[in-house]
Amino acid sequence: MKTNSSTENHALRVKAQPIGIFETPIAYGRLKDADEVMKELEVAIRKRKTISKGLSRSNLGGWHSESDMLEWGGPAAHRLAEAAINIAKRMSYFEESSAEDRRWLVRMWANVTPEGGLNLLHSHPGNLWAAVLYIDMGHETEQESRNAGGSLYLEDPRFPMAAMRDTAFRMRGVDGQPQQYQTEIELQRGNLIVFPAWLQHGVRPHTGKRDRISVAMNIDAVRKDVGR
Ligand SMILES: [Fe+2]
Repeated sequence: MKTNSSTENHALRVKAQPIGIFETPIAYGRLKDADEVMKELEVAIRKRKTISKGLSRSNLGGWHSESDMLEWGGPAAHRLAEAAINIAKRMSYFEESSAEDRRWLVRMWANVTPEGGLNLLHSHPGNLWAAVLYIDMGHETEQESRNAGGSLYLEDPRFPMAAMRDTAFRMRGVDGQPQQYQTEIELQRGNLIVFPAWLQHGVRPHTGKRDRISVAMNIDAVRKDVGR
């Protein structure tokens, strides 16, 4: 619209700063000096796999142990649980009490996935946090791991709300980038990831020749005085 008035010539200028709220905290790290621990875990897992049929959960084509790995995983499993709890404690806040007032509980299991195996989208209800340690991504070569399947993907917990009006629509995050409905995380041996247990996630089909091996955990905290 053309007008003679100079004040109406320009679009209104607004100084707007995007802020991100309602974050989903995810801890993503690497175990240090843990080669020995990971070797011990792998030995225990392979041994267990020969005597236990495992469970059917989100796993398709892979072996999922019973969730009692703390009973057969040896000291290495307990050290891993402690490391995961420490991360979970740092990301937790309790009204009118502290993380130390709680008894922290871990259920642990192993996943051994051969070529073609995957995990369907799922969450871990009834827990505060979920965690996974990666022991072997199952790829022989650098090249193989670059084209890798087997990656962990996380689904935006706001999905499908943001796509309800227009499936092509993405909100830009505070970094200006479009927020996709799923995010893949690149993982290597030794990576430990801790995320909210309600956050839906899955594993893309594993394309490597070797087994992909990971250890998953459910982490919960109950009040010592009331036991829940
Ligand atoms: Fe999971």
